[in-house]
Amino acid sequence: MRLIRKIDEMRKYVRERKNKKLIGFVPTMGYLHEGHLSLIRKARRECDEVIVSIFVNPTQFGRGEDYHSYPRDLKRDIALSEKEKVDVIFAPSVEEMYPEGYSTFVQVEGRLSSVLEGASRPGHFRGVCTVLVKLFNIINPDISFFGEKDFQQALIVKKMVEDLNIDTRIVLLPTVREEDGLAMSSRNSYFNEEERKAAIILYRSLKKAKEWIDQGERNSSRIIQKMKDFIAKEPLARIDYIAIVDSKSLEEVEQVERGNLIALAVYIGKVRLIDNMRV
Ligand code: PAJ
Repeated sequence: MRLIRKIDEMRKYVRERKNKKLIGFVPTMGYLHEGHLSLIRKARRECDEVIVSIFVNPTQFGRGEDYHSYPRDLKRDIALSEKEKVDVIFAPSVEEMYPEGYSTFVQVEGRLSSVLEGASRPGHFRGVCTVLVKLFNIINPDISFFGEKDFQQALIVKKMVEDLNIDTRIVLLPTVREEDGLAMSSRNSYFNEEERKAAIILYRSLKKAKEWIDQGERNSSRIIQKMKDFIAKEPLARIDYIAIVDSKSLEEVEQVERGNLIALAVYIGKVRLIDNMRV
């Protein structure tokens, strides 16, 4: 018999008894685009087995948000995944994930989930964390792949995985953009031509901020104000928030330093987009 007192050692013991296949996991809400595919390709390179989940998770959408209209096309997603040599698509129904009487939720408390997206979309991260814990428990992945596009989500997931001793490594990959800089998003499919053009204002304002910083501007409030003035020139855009924060604590900074995160959420017409950039 063996006595184990350390979590790492306990896990190692369990892992070594399972077969040695390295399982990579890419959680998504489907309607796959190049951003998702970049995660899938990375998983394919690093792991023996690649599992992609496709589940538009109702618990992470607020009242009046776009749960019902969120784009869905499983056939197309299957074809794209097939091309990337994905081994398994896990696409459960809502009833499968949340049967009658479902009542357990997971919440990362404190600053990380209460600022930025957390402030604008109350309950959003509770839904994200809940579905991810379920998926991690179902799939048991060695490595899970996330995109920087949702930087705050990735920070919260890392915290949750650490706090709850979930045995998966979180790998974060850069935001994939359209040629003009617009961050790829399933929600971009909502746009008409005019809105699509207007949507590049997010990336443009981030680039501008970077320029001002390169020119020596360090004062956060001034940079944010200039970004606001810049975005105000786009009639279809309405700012939800712009913030410059420490990229670990998400604490707002007064003076910008290397590594800080500039994050923003902007409505283009009725569609809410987010983007961010590291300084
Ligand atoms: P979804 O928006 O489908 O995104 C799935 C994953 O793809 C996330 O890790 C996201 O950061 C990444 N991603 C999206 N657009 C990207 C881009 N342009 N470049 C790089 N990566 C990108 O995020 C979710 O789904 C859900 O909240 C989920 C984690 C699946 C839980 O329901």
